Amino acid sequence: MDIRDLTADDLDAVIDLRKRAFGPARTADVETFRKMVRPTLAAGRYLGAFDGGRMAAAARLRPFTQWWHGRPQPMSGVAGVTVSPEDRGRGVGTLLMRALIERAAALGDAVSTLFPATTPIYRSLGYEHAGAQHRVTLPADALMTIRPAKDVKLRRMGPGDAAEVIALLHRVHAAARASGPISYDEDVWRLRLAAEDDFLYLADDGLAVYRWDGLDIEVDTLVAGSAETARTLWSLVGTSSSIAERVTAAVAPDDPVLWLLRERSKDTAEQVRWMFRVIDLAEAVARRGYPAVVGASAVVRVDDPLRTGNTGTWRLEFSGGSGAATRQDASSEAPELSVNGFSALYAGVPTATLRRSGLMTGSGRHDETLDAAFAARPYTLDYF
Ligand SMILES: CC(C)(COP(=O)(O)OP(=O)(O)OC[C@H]1O[C@@H](n2cnc3c(N)ncnc32)[C@H](O)[C@@H]1OP(=O)(O)O)[C@@H](O)C(=O)NCCC(=O)NCCS
Repeated sequence: MDIRDLTADDLDAVIDLRKRAFGPARTADVETFRKMVRPTLAAGRYLGAFDGGRMAAAARLRPFTQWWHGRPQPMSGVAGVTVSPEDRGRGVGTLLMRALIERAAALGDAVSTLFPATTPIYRSLGYEHAGAQHRVTLPADALMTIRPAKDVKLRRMGPGDAAEVIALLHRVHAAARASGPISYDEDVWRLRLAAEDDFLYLADDGLAVYRWDGLDIEVDTLVAGSAETARTLWSLVGTSSSIAERVTAAVAPDDPVLWLLRERSKDTAEQVRWMFRVIDLAEAVARRGYPAVVGASAVVRVDDPLRTGNTGTWRLEFSGGSGAATRQDASSEAPELSVNGFSALYAGVPTATLRRSGLMTGSGRHDETLDAAFAARPYTLDYF
């Protein structure tokens, strides 16, 4: 099996693989897919496994920005992992994923995320369960009780607003000290902002993307940097309630909308889980944000059989909202973590959970420091 970069000439074979993996696709969706992946090909982010001239598998690394405690960093989102049915269960997916992880490192991305259709393959490669896309379902008329603020002006947005949308997400996620949310690059936002059936609204410090889903409303993205804008955007969605029964919305687990509702006793939410991997430990630690009140250090011993540069004993120092990882000699104070365990820790999984699930062993001396520094409830609004 040979692994190589895909070119535009390979896209017909990719689309055939995707149909065999994910089901039939509408012609319009296939065309959008072609447009969306074109820059990925040129950037060395789409790999295929070939048996002679025949494509046996393909997968790509989507270029995202991901925020961790409000600080953005480039993130490789693994997407469209597809092995042809006749090649499945023979190690081809694993082979391709190993090549993708190396490619993510070569491209300079220190962290990677994926939505797993199945866990074991990704866990065996160092990914661990970290966050979720939380999808709440609300009665549409519950949003009608939210009153818009008079002085928040909304305008419709389109492809020309892609750069403004990205700048806005930077402002809002930094101010919220958010962990986990992602942004697409400008090319992809331009395509999303051209979607015919979506309602797209922009405020100075917020945006909403929503659409009809049968007789229900589906909110794709709704972020707001202030109470006034949150009220205005959610009440905008609520005006559909004369027709719509339910609103399903991707939200943060502690999204303000849940505190804006007049009544709340039982949340109906679905979590679509995502897995996370640290690709380059030192860079990932340096690029993450941390609570500025944590001024402390800790030691950990990490084992990464795939990316051996991550293996070793690391001293982690946190100060003024920043972190640094430097190598040090073996220490009896250092708890031991597989790269899966370290990736989960980085994503805010508490040390007590890591220990009780076998992902962390050894000295507990630094557990409270690690919990305080990496504390997070990671989410994404976007499924990819
Ligand atoms: C899931 C998929 C990518 C795995 O690729 P593959 O080449 O079949 O996997 P490998 O042979 O390298 O197997 C790796 C591990 O995953 C497990 N695995 C493979 N397919 C699986 C499945 N459908 N369900 C559960 N586990 C599976 C294998 O048992 C193996 O684990 P083991 O070593 O503990 O036995 C491939 O089967 C596929 O394309 N499926 C359809 C599309 C899909 O689900 N894509 C994933 C999107 S996230």
